[in-house]
Amino acid sequence: MNVITCIEDLRVLAKARVPRMFYDYAESGSWTESTFRANEADFQKLLLRQRVAVNLENRSTRSKMIGVDVAMPVALAPTGLTGMQHADGEILAARAAEKFGVPFTLSTMSICSIEDVAAHTKAPFWFQLYVMKDREFIERLIDRAKAAHCGALMLTLDLQILGQRHKDIKNGLSAPPRLTLANMLNLMSRPRWGLGMLGTKRRHFGNIVGHVKGVEDMSSLGAWTAEQFDPRLNWSDVEWIKKRWGGKLILKGILDVEDARHAADCGADALVVSNHGGRQLDGAPSSISALPAIVDAVGPRIEVWMDGGIRSGQDVLKAVALGARGTLIGRAFLYGLGALGEAGVTKCLQIIQRELDLTMAFCGHTDIGRVGPSILLDPPRNPNRELVELARAPALGSSGGARSVAVG
Ligand SMILES: Cc1cc2nc3c(=O)[nH]c(=O)nc-3n(C[C@H](O)[C@H](O)[C@H](O)COP(=O)(O)O)c2cc1C
Repeated sequence: MNVITCIEDLRVLAKARVPRMFYDYAESGSWTESTFRANEADFQKLLLRQRVAVNLENRSTRSKMIGVDVAMPVALAPTGLTGMQHADGEILAARAAEKFGVPFTLSTMSICSIEDVAAHTKAPFWFQLYVMKDREFIERLIDRAKAAHCGALMLTLDLQILGQRHKDIKNGLSAPPRLTLANMLNLMSRPRWGLGMLGTKRRHFGNIVGHVKGVEDMSSLGAWTAEQFDPRLNWSDVEWIKKRWGGKLILKGILDVEDARHAADCGADALVVSNHGGRQLDGAPSSISALPAIVDAVGPRIEVWMDGGIRSGQDVLKAVALGARGTLIGRAFLYGLGALGEAGVTKCLQIIQRELDLTMAFCGHTDIGRVGPSILLDPPRNPNRELVELARAPALGSSGGARSVAVG
């Protein structure tokens, strides 16, 4: 690989450098992966209006997300096991985000702990919370996030139960990982990754190991995690968490207009239209197709953001055009991290910002704050209306199967 010019280049390099078990963990969706694929494919259906002879000097992608100044309306999404894509992954990604001027979100299921990331960064990062049955553990996590001066709590609502990803089961991605001969050979073929891992002590779920009674190693952790996600999670828990946290609250994993109304009613600062990157309900609509109806329903009451399938600055621009006041990127930054560590995450952000800036200019705009639906071709040529219809259609069902403990 010579010159890296796009997110796809980072993906290809990450695939060569990250052990298959962890690369596949990121690069997969649940069951048939139809929603995972639709997240990207539906962006391609939106066509942009090219405009000419507009003064394009002095352009800006700067914006605000829940009052935070951002270099562009993009934040790093919470992703579990990020420290397995690259040694110390969460710290490296948080540093890259801080230097670039976009928010970083730390997952509950991170390898580096809240305290560890706080010790290696200056800008307040956001903390993502999964609701576990052990409510005392949740209270302690919230208190730890407060003590680390996290700027917002992102509560994920779409993972009370786990979607099934075939690749994770087949690869033996569990806690502890199943060390088959194939896995060992594959790990040995990634020496750069292996050296990094040998050089760090951060190899467990840092927010959990040592913070829960009886969870001291990978196998006790596996047993705990597998039974901890709380299937009873409901809107009264959201109220309770909001009160306990007391700061800015972002609700993640909303795909339905009715749920968006609940999110707005409970006074959250932002909601993220998201299907968890196609990793939970396969057969659900793509996030970009679900976005317009949700913006219509609650847009003035709550900041509506989206994630899922963003692989370029053009995708960010299209989301903004359809009313998203912010976006999150997951896999795009993970590819950068797996490929080149901190420099790769920086590269990912640079690529996205450049694409966003140039595409905005081609559409005749100089300020991201003024971009609206008029940059998209009008219906009927604009398939946007179809996408809204698609978002309102009932989701398809899927069959059950074995469960992996590879969460997030
Ligand atoms: C490897 C991986 C791990 C993830 N782990 C979490 C997690 O721990 N918490 C969470 O709320 N979402 C998690 N997500 C979902 C992301 O936050 C985000 O919704 C999704 O990645 C967006 O789609 P994209 O990857 O196409 O950008 C994960 C996604 C991936 C790819």
